[in-house]
Amino acid sequence: MENPFIIKSYESKELFCDREEELQLMLRNCINHSDMTLISQRRMGKTGLILRLFDELHDTRPDIHTIYLDIFSSRNIDDFIKLLAEAALKAFRQQTTIGDRLMNFIKSLRPQFTFDSITGDPQLQIAYQTAHEKEYTLKGLLDFLDSQNVHIVMAIDEFQQIREYPEQKMEALLRTYIQQTHHITFIFCGSKKHIMADIFANEKKPFYSSTAFISLDKITAESYSAFIKRLFNDNQRSITEEAVQFILEWTRRHTYYTQQLCHTVFANGAQAITIEDVKMACEQLMKQGEAVYLQYRQMLTDKQWNYLIAIAKETAVSQITASAFLSKYNIGTPSASRRLADALREKGLLNDEITLEGTSYNVSDVFLSHWMERL
Ligand SMILES: Nc1ncnc2c1ncn2[C@@H]1O[C@H](COP(=O)(O)OP(=O)(O)OP(=O)(O)O)[C@@H](O)[C@H]1O
Ligand SMILES: [Mg+2]
Repeated sequence: MENPFIIKSYESKELFCDREEELQLMLRNCINHSDMTLISQRRMGKTGLILRLFDELHDTRPDIHTIYLDIFSSRNIDDFIKLLAEAALKAFRQQTTIGDRLMNFIKSLRPQFTFDSITGDPQLQIAYQTAHEKEYTLKGLLDFLDSQNVHIVMAIDEFQQIREYPEQKMEALLRTYIQQTHHITFIFCGSKKHIMADIFANEKKPFYSSTAFISLDKITAESYSAFIKRLFNDNQRSITEEAVQFILEWTRRHTYYTQQLCHTVFANGAQAITIEDVKMACEQLMKQGEAVYLQYRQMLTDKQWNYLIAIAKETAVSQITASAFLSKYNIGTPSASRRLADALREKGLLNDEITLEGTSYNVSDVFLSHWMERL
């Protein structure tokens, strides 16, 4: 029996929990051509939601075409162009007229052009263009897509990656080209909240105020608990209310971790699931993570490691400079505390959330956080 708790990407709306409000909002924005920026902490479900949205668009709005590109692996404008062209070719492969025209257009750019022999996915190589030619190619591609008389929704995932490109102008260039399109709605998505905020909410930057912000929060306990029960019951399993509540609390309703724990409980095979089965799965997950946690230990200074443990033991800390916290864990001065928090946030090990009381910090990896509580 297939495990219904997906821990990779997206499969179907039946296996996707809630996000109805965000989905409706995004559908509305797509239909009204409003560009969007989707932000959340890591592993909360941004990519999944984009794919869910595309699925919905395919079902209800076949006139709208979707292009998904993940630029995480890109290092420069060449890579960006390549990923964009490949994603567009993939999207229009079935659409013979646009697909053929796109292919001809790309051939006219004289890149080397090959198809992946196993999947048949297009794979492009664009070689030896001058910086100016590359900009022209990028603009040409967007212009081409824009001039096909079809409405396109283009999601660019891990968008903050453009900040790593050596081409300093990339942000301004893209902003200019994007502004000139009329038939493409853009969704910018990224997991580095601070960089995304700097790109889209800093008045000194080209993308300032150009998109609608959508921030993904945790799925509600009601929705998630109904979802978990349904997926177990649909697969001839039962689960106690107490066990479900334990899952939601222990994983703090952080989507990836909740999915992962449910996946493990399911995989372990119990038919009538109790809180004992869940606790056993928690132990397994922490044990599995241990090798990686010990890597972190190597990677960090003693001060950083101990700081992470301090935050884990407190679950969340909203006053990292408060003397009670500093002295309890022997951290030192308020500015030392700030420095440690910043460094660990940079490394992705700490997550910060802006609350009414100020910035609250927690250990990003929920399983690591529980593992550290015991040290
Ligand atoms: N609404 C949902 N219902 C069920 N599973 C989900 C849901 N949203 C996301 N997931 C699952 O949770 C995991 C994390 O989701 P996803 O990769 O979409 O997060 P993300 O915010 O894009 O993460 P990252 O910041 O690492 O890019 C994935 O395994 C995905 O399948
Ligand atoms: Mg993602």
